[in-house]
Amino acid sequence: MRLDIRWFPTVTSTMDVAAEAAEAGAGEGLVIVAEEQTAGRGRRGRTWSSPPGAGLYVSFVFRPSLEAGPASLLSILTLAAGVAVRRAITQATGFAPELKWPNDVVVGRRKLAGILAEGVGIGTHAQTVVLGVGINVSRASHPVEIADRATSLEAHLGQPIERESVLEELLVQLPHAYDHLRRGDAGDILRSWRQASGSALGSAVEWTTLDGLRRGTTAGIDDDGALRVRTAAGTERVVAGEVRWL
Ligand code: BTN
Repeated sequence: MRLDIRWFPTVTSTMDVAAEAAEAGAGEGLVIVAEEQTAGRGRRGRTWSSPPGAGLYVSFVFRPSLEAGPASLLSILTLAAGVAVRRAITQATGFAPELKWPNDVVVGRRKLAGILAEGVGIGTHAQTVVLGVGINVSRASHPVEIADRATSLEAHLGQPIERESVLEELLVQLPHAYDHLRRGDAGDILRSWRQASGSALGSAVEWTTLDGLRRGTTAGIDDDGALRVRTAAGTERVVAGEVRWL
């Protein structure tokens, strides 16, 4: 895939810039990279703290064909991005972080990177996915509410890390993982994801449903990317909503 990489010193969110460009007709392979985001966002309306120069803030535009796209396209793409981000970090630094369902790249309980998949026109021939990746590279002052839940490559590894080398690897690994999916080969992604996520097996979790609070023990992910959780009532699939790790 040919990449069209556009760099910006400051944006509200690379998601917005990528979505606007996609709406204006930009093709698959557009990549928006920003030095700083003033309104970086995470899942479920959270903000993604994006101080200048402290991390990588990148969004990719993909236009998966309807035939290649399973019903669970966004879930699988999110897992593929997790695998790609982990590989990129490993290639650039030698360190292999853990993946935590559905979209976190973590060191222990601290978040190192996050992934956000936003779809436009999913299920139509014009379906477009903007896939955002945020990687904390150096120590930065984050708002207090996330400071004790986040870490960075430099904080964890105790040495300077070049953002450019992580970015270079990301620009290789993410399109590569996406290509696997495009060819209908989710097997490699699912295998790699499962190997990288200890917490997907045997961890205590709880989540809220319309019927109330549920508790159980994680039992891996299925081939659609849903989390399987063993509860007193049997094994359930968790596809959306927030799982709390206990
Ligand atoms: C999450 O873990 O909640 C997802 C975080 C995703 C952050 C990235 S940074 C680049 C892109 N632009 C954004 O505003 N968000 C994503």
